[in-house]
Amino acid sequence: MQRSRLVVLAAALVASATWGTAHALSGTPAAHRATVAPLVAEGAHDFVQFACGQCHGPNGIGGVSTDVPALRVVGRAMSTKQLRSIIDHGLGVAKDPAKPYMPVWGAVMSNRQVAALVAYLHAGLPAVKGAVPVVVQTSQGAVVEGQGLYVRNGCINCHGPNGLGGVPNPQSPDKSIPPLSGAGFFKEFNRKAIADVIRSGSVIGRAPIVSMPHWGGILEQSQIDALVAYIETLKSG
Ligand code: HEC
Ligand code: HEC
Repeated sequence: MQRSRLVVLAAALVASATWGTAHALSGTPAAHRATVAPLVAEGAHDFVQFACGQCHGPNGIGGVSTDVPALRVVGRAMSTKQLRSIIDHGLGVAKDPAKPYMPVWGAVMSNRQVAALVAYLHAGLPAVKGAVPVVVQTSQGAVVEGQGLYVRNGCINCHGPNGLGGVPNPQSPDKSIPPLSGAGFFKEFNRKAIADVIRSGSVIGRAPIVSMPHWGGILEQSQIDALVAYIETLKSG
């Protein structure tokens, strides 16, 4: 009896010591906690959500395409007004389907999100814990890859979850960004037509009208094929 009580006590001590160590290890020491302001952290997550890094490189370091500038230096150098205007209205040659251009985000993002992005750019695009794009699975078939790319490249922000549409585009003739699903969409767009729009974009008009960005030069042909394979699994009726 005495002996078994001691064993239980010893076991409890070992368990609590182990728990204590594990707990101390999993807790982040104060010195290593994120030091960025909340608005900068928000901006880092918006940068991921709106796929800025897919064209400008992770944390704006560039290197994706010679047509897309790095943002680390200009991000600090540009005024709030300049950055806001570029994010709201886009930049570059929209009409050349061979070149990527900076999308128009004014109709899609809130003021707060633009302010957070500006704060993040002004802070020099630091790494922020958890602000990383979704990992795209490339060994589980084209549909799975396309589903990941749809989120990673921010298609979801403009075309809605599951391609259901409904995102306002008030100045455009249709008043909203088109869905990538439904009978009307699949009647108008076969595989090739879907791939062509993804590669070459489609200019409906000048900012503040939102147009379809060009992804040629940013996405590989196999990634465009994967997006088409995913879109073809969406609701067709
Ligand atoms: C589809 C690709 C693409 C995406 C996505 C994109 N950009 Fe751009 N961005 C460009 C291109 C191309 C330019 C250069 C336009 C030009 O000057 O011809 C540019 C220019 C800029 C500039 C001006 C840089 C300079 O040196 O003049 C800023 C700032 C900027 N982008 C911020 C952003 C932010 C913030 C996001 C996310 C909300 C974003 N971009 C998403 C393609 C993209
Ligand atoms: C900044 C918003 C925006 C983003 C991001 C965006 N699109 Fe679009 N997309 C549009 C708009 C606006 C149109 C309508 C163009 C038109 O009517 O000519 C469009 C059209 C399309 C079309 C043709 C459908 C139609 O009815 O015109 C396809 C397919 C498409 N986009 C796929 C994608 C894919 C895939 C992605 C991600 C790689 C993506 N889009 C990202 C705004 C966007």
